[in-house]
Amino acid sequence: MIVKKAGVLLWTWAALLLVNGQPSPEELAPLLDGLFGGPIVEAIGTATDLQKRVPLMTDDPTVAPLIDLQVFAPPVVPKGGTSCTVRLLEYSFGVDSFNKPAIVSYVPPVLPECGKVGEWAAISLNLSVFSIGTQYDRLGAIYLSHTEVWRTSSAEPTKTGTRWTTIKDMTHYTPLFAKSGDLMMDFSNIVDTSLLLDAAFDVTITATFYAPTKAFPVPDTPDLIIPLSNLSPTLPNFFAIDNDAGAATDIEIPDTSEEAYVEIACSGNSAEEFWYLNTPDEFIDTFPPDSGLVGKGPFREVQVLVDGQLAGVVWPHAVIYTGGITPSNWRPLTSFGAYDQPTYWISITPFIPQLLTGNQSHSITLRVQGQGSNPSINSNWFVSGSVHIRVGLGKVAGRLTKYEVDPLEIKTIGGATAGNKTLHTWLTAKRRLSVEAELTTSHGRQTVSFTQDLRYSNEADYEDEGWVQRGAQSTVGTTEAQHGGQLVLRDAFSYPLTVFSNYSLFTQEFGGYGSDIHQNHTRALHPPFSFQRSIHSVQHARGQIGMDNWPGLRHAINGTGETTQLFAYSDGRGETYFRDVAAMNDGWVKDEVWGTLKDANPPVPKSQIFGPGGGPGFRRMVARGRR
Ligand SMILES: *[C@@H]1O[C@H](CO)[C@@H](O)[C@H](O)[C@H]1NC(C)=O
Ligand SMILES: *[C@@H]1O[C@H](CO)[C@@H](O)[C@H](O)[C@H]1NC(C)=O
Ligand SMILES: *[C@@H]1O[C@H](CO)[C@@H](O)[C@H](O)[C@H]1NC(C)=O
Ligand SMILES: *[C@@H]1O[C@H](CO)[C@@H](O)[C@H](O)[C@H]1NC(C)=O
Ligand SMILES: *[C@@H]1O[C@H](CO)[C@@H](O)[C@H](O)[C@H]1NC(C)=O
Ligand SMILES: *[C@@H]1O[C@H](CO)[C@@H](O)[C@H](O)[C@H]1NC(C)=O
Repeated sequence: MIVKKAGVLLWTWAALLLVNGQPSPEELAPLLDGLFGGPIVEAIGTATDLQKRVPLMTDDPTVAPLIDLQVFAPPVVPKGGTSCTVRLLEYSFGVDSFNKPAIVSYVPPVLPECGKVGEWAAISLNLSVFSIGTQYDRLGAIYLSHTEVWRTSSAEPTKTGTRWTTIKDMTHYTPLFAKSGDLMMDFSNIVDTSLLLDAAFDVTITATFYAPTKAFPVPDTPDLIIPLSNLSPTLPNFFAIDNDAGAATDIEIPDTSEEAYVEIACSGNSAEEFWYLNTPDEFIDTFPPDSGLVGKGPFREVQVLVDGQLAGVVWPHAVIYTGGITPSNWRPLTSFGAYDQPTYWISITPFIPQLLTGNQSHSITLRVQGQGSNPSINSNWFVSGSVHIRVGLGKVAGRLTKYEVDPLEIKTIGGATAGNKTLHTWLTAKRRLSVEAELTTSHGRQTVSFTQDLRYSNEADYEDEGWVQRGAQSTVGTTEAQHGGQLVLRDAFSYPLTVFSNYSLFTQEFGGYGSDIHQNHTRALHPPFSFQRSIHSVQHARGQIGMDNWPGLRHAINGTGETTQLFAYSDGRGETYFRDVAAMNDGWVKDEVWGTLKDANPPVPKSQIFGPGGGPGFRRMVARGRR
C-alpha cells in the first residue's frame, strides 16, 4: 500500500442527485450548525508556505515523537461512575510479523469498579501505536473470539518516532467481552533493511469498562454474536477474497432469534486498494500497458447472501491509507477511516424464517462484485463480518412475504479522443432492494422489513497516456430496517471523493508525482443496538513527492503535503464533537476542538503546533552507493 501510479479527471456532480432520505436536512442541521457556528479559526498557511521535506524518511530534528492522528469522535461513556482499564495486548509487530497475528487470551474483568460482567454501561478500546524509522502503511485488524472488532491501518512513521492513538466504542460487542476467549491482532508488517524498511509497530491495546450509573444505564446489546470469518486459530481471520464466489460461513441461530443483523468490515487491498480509480475493462487498452492502469472498473459492491440469496449490500466509503496516492498528504493527519474504518449494517431479520428451516445450519456468504468478468474484481478484498442476534422468549416462526431485489443497474460509457490522447469514462449504478417478512415472536406478530436505495456515479478523465487522472466519485444512499413500523436501523450516507493525480514524471530519473484530493464522509447512522450518531467530515489534501535516480526501486527524497479537515459529530444522546484541523509538511498548523465531548479527545498539544508553514520540512540526502 504505497503509491499508486494512477490516472486523473474532469467531472460533474450532476449525476449524483439526491436519493430519498439520504442525510436529511434535520439530520445535517446539528452538524452544520455546530461546525460553522463554532469558533473562527485562522486558516494559517498557504501553498506558498510549503517546504520541501522527505515524506517517508523524515529526520525531523525538532519534535520527537510526532503525534499523528485520525480524527474521531470519542466514545460516549458515563460521567461520574466507576470504570476500570485493563491492558489487553502489548506487542511489537516487527520482523516475522507478516501473517503472524499476536494472540493472547482474554478474560472479562471482575473488579467491582468495572461493573458486573456483561452489564457494562460502555466499553471502549484504546489502540495506541509507536513506530520509529521507515515503513509503509500496513493494514491491521483486531479480533475477539474470531470476530473482527476493529479494522485499522498504520502511519508511515518518521525517523524520530511517531505515535498515534485511536479510541473506539465497543459496547455493542458486549456479549464477546463478557466471555473468555482469544484476542488476536494482525498487523502484518515487513521489516527488511535491504528494502530500507526498518520500523516495527509497538502496539498497546487497553480496554476500559464502565459500570452503569443512574443517568447511563446498561444499554441494549445483542444476546449473541456469531463471527463471519475464517475462524483460523493462527492466521488473520478476515476472508481474502479474489473471486466471485466470495466466502461462506455456516451458521446456526437459536430458534428464538427475533432480530438478526450483519455487521461488515471490508477493504480493498493490492490491485483493489484504489478500486475507486480502477478503469473499466472496455477502455483499459486506450493506453500502453506500462501506464499502469488497473482494470475491472471503479464500482464495488460488498454483498451479503443468505443461503445464496442476496440479502443486502454495502457500497463502502473509500478509505485512503497513509501511503495512498501521495503519502505526504497524510502525515500527521490521516484521511477519514485510516485508523478506524467504518463498518456497515445489513438486517437479515426477514430471513430468520429461512435461517430456522430444516433444523440445520445455513450459509451466510460475503462476496465482492466489481465490473470485470470472471472474476469481476482484481486481487483482493479483505472482508469479514458478524451476525448480531436478539433472542426472545419463545420459538420464532414466519415467512418471507416480499423479495424485491432488482438487478444492479450499472452503465458505463466513455471514449478516447483522436489518437487516444485523452480518455473519458462515466459510470452510474443504482440499486433498490426491499425485503419483508411476517414474524411471530414472543411479542406477537409483526412485519419486518429491510430496504436499500443506493446511487453511484464515477467519472474519470485521463491524459498523458493515463499518467494524469481526474476521478470524481459519488456514493449516496439510504438503508433502513423496520420492525412493526418501528425504525431499528437507518444508514443515510453521502461519500463524495475527487482525486486529481499526476504521475507524468513517475518513471523519470529525479521524477516525482503528486495529487489533490477532496473527500467528504457524511453519514447519519442509527445502528441496531445503539443510539443514533451523525458524522460530517470534510477533507482536502494535496502534495508532491520528488524521487531519486536509484536504479530499480526509487526513493522519495523530498516532498510537500498539506491536509485540512473539518469534522462534526452529533448523536442521539445530545453529545457533540467538532474539530477544525490542518497539517502541513509533517507538522501541525492548527487544531481547534469544541463540543460536549471535547475533553475526551483534545487537540494536539500546543507544543506540537509548528505554525503556518507546518513542519520544518527537510530533504533526505541521497548519494550513489548509499541508500
Ligand atoms: C491510550 O493508551 C495509551 C498507551 O497505553 C496512553 O498513553 C493514553 O493515555 C491512552 N489514551 C486515553 C485517552 O486513554
Ligand atoms: C485506442 O484505444 C482503444 C480503446 O479505447 C484501443 O482499443 C486501441 O487499441 C487504442 N489504440 C492504440 C493505437 O493504442
Ligand atoms: C432437530 O435437531 C435436534 C438435535 O439434533 C433433534 O433433537 C430434533 O428432533 C430435530 N428436530 C427436527 C424437527 O428435525
Ligand atoms: C504534471 O506534473 C508535471 C511535473 O510537475 C507538470 O509539468 C505537468 O504540467 C503536470 N500536469 C498536469 C495536468 O497538471
Ligand atoms: C463537502 O462538505 C462541504 C462542507 O459542508 C460542502 O461545502 C461541500 O459541498 C461538500 N462536497 C461535496 C462534493 O458534497
Ligand atoms: C528534490 O530533489 C531533487 C534531487 O536532488 C532536486 O533535483 C529537486 O530540485 C528537488 N525538488 C525540490 C522541489 O526541492
